[in-house]
Amino acid sequence: MKFFLDTANLEEIRQAASLGVLDGITTNPSLVAKEKRPFREHILEICEIVKPGVVNVEVVSTDTAGMLREGREFASWHPNIVVKVPMTPDGLRALNTLVREGIRINVTLVFSPAQALIVAKAGAYFVSPFLGRLDDVAQDGLGVLHEILTIYRAYNFQTQVLAASLRHPIHVVEAAKMGAHIGTMPFKVFEQLFKHPLTDRGLEGFLKDWEKAREVLGDIVQAATAGKRGR
Ligand code: G3P
Repeated sequence: MKFFLDTANLEEIRQAASLGVLDGITTNPSLVAKEKRPFREHILEICEIVKPGVVNVEVVSTDTAGMLREGREFASWHPNIVVKVPMTPDGLRALNTLVREGIRINVTLVFSPAQALIVAKAGAYFVSPFLGRLDDVAQDGLGVLHEILTIYRAYNFQTQVLAASLRHPIHVVEAAKMGAHIGTMPFKVFEQLFKHPLTDRGLEGFLKDWEKAREVLGDIVQAATAGKRGR
C-alpha cells in the first residue's frame, strides 16, 4: 500500500518524508487555503520535498472549460503533479480530454461504487472514495471501499483506488487488508501508525537495564572503536 499524506503543510510533509515511507501528497482547496502562501510556489515546494512521489492538485472551476484550463496549467508546473477533478459530469468531460493529452487525473469526492465504476471506465489514474465522510453520515465507508475494489478486480480496471478521508489507524489497516492501492491520511493519523505503548515501554526497559550495568559494559562507541583498532 502506498502512503500519501493529506496535507499541504510543509513541516508535516518534511517530517513524514524524512521517515522514508511517504509516496505522495493529496491536497485540496481547503488544505491549500490554510497555508496562506502563493499557490504555485507552494505546490512546487511540495513537489521538491516528495519527489519522485506524486502531488495531487485540485481544480476549483466547476465548468469543463475552467477545469481544462486549470488542469493543463497545473500539469505544466511539474511532471509529478496529478490533477484532481470532482465527480461531476463537467469533471468527467474534463477528464476525458485531459487523459487524451497524457495528464493523470484523480477523481475526488467519490461516495458510491456506481460513481467509482464510471471513474474507472473513464480512464482516471486515481479514484478517491472518502471513507471518513461516509462514516460521518452513518454510511459504511469501508464497506463502500470493499465494493469498489470488488468491481475493479472483476474487470481488471487500471485505475488505482486511493482510500481518502481516513480518520484513524483502523481505517488505514482495514483499507490495506482489502488491498486498496493507496491510503491518504492526515499527519496525525500517519504518526499514530507508528505508535504502540508496548514499544515505548519496551524501549524504556532496555535503556534502564543498560544504564544499571553501564559501569561493567563501558561505553558502547568507545568499545566498538577499540575493537576496530585491535584488528
Ligand atoms: O483530501 C481529501 C480527503 O482526504 C478529505 O478528508 O478528513 O476532510 O474528510 P476529510
